Amino acid sequence: MPQTFAFDIYGTLIDTAGVTRSLATMVGDQATLFSSRWRDKQLEYSFRRGLMRDYVDFSVCTRQALEFTSAQLNLPISDTAAQALLDEYRRLPAFVDVPTALQQLKSAGHRLYAFSNGLPDDLEALLETAGIRHAFVDIVSVHEIRTFKPDPAVYRHFLTRSGATADGCCLVSSNPFDLLGGKAIGMRTAWIRRSDANHFDPWDRRPDLTFASLSELQQAFSE
Ligand code: 2OP
Repeated sequence: MPQTFAFDIYGTLIDTAGVTRSLATMVGDQATLFSSRWRDKQLEYSFRRGLMRDYVDFSVCTRQALEFTSAQLNLPISDTAAQALLDEYRRLPAFVDVPTALQQLKSAGHRLYAFSNGLPDDLEALLETAGIRHAFVDIVSVHEIRTFKPDPAVYRHFLTRSGATADGCCLVSSNPFDLLGGKAIGMRTAWIRRSDANHFDPWDRRPDLTFASLSELQQAFSE
């Protein structure tokens, strides 16, 4: 049965570690650590902003998290280099299995939406550069209601925008916090677990489906 998919973007379709190569030219062998701390802090800032009802857009969370990470790890980055990293954040690559899997899901008649914390313009640029914008019916950004995942309002907003029912759509994410957010309002959920090192939070809810890649998900929904 054709259905509606809400695809998380950062970390699910788009590889946020894509900045690691540029970081390596700035902070050497600390690049992987830096990239992961930066990502964690970016998400922490979005959670805190959401809880405090003190919304700033996601690019601000990203920029402030970069500044914090540089200070915390005592790895100074010049303003020019920081701007180059932030520019690159709008041109991150898709994971290698993503373009084909999305194209095949679309061809099978499913309705695909991008659903993200990111700014609409940033998402447009990101998906276009990664060569996957055409796969989506539309982009649904939290910016439209000025709060962040996993605020339940964000998931309800997705349902309003897409016209889907909670149990008639599937939220696809590699971020457990995102899936728990969708599950809390009754959405069906698929966890993309790209590495055995990734673990799901031991809460009272589990994802409905788990796949090691987007290709696996695509195969399951083509049968
Ligand atoms: C996204 O909304 C959670 O960062 C993730 O794209």
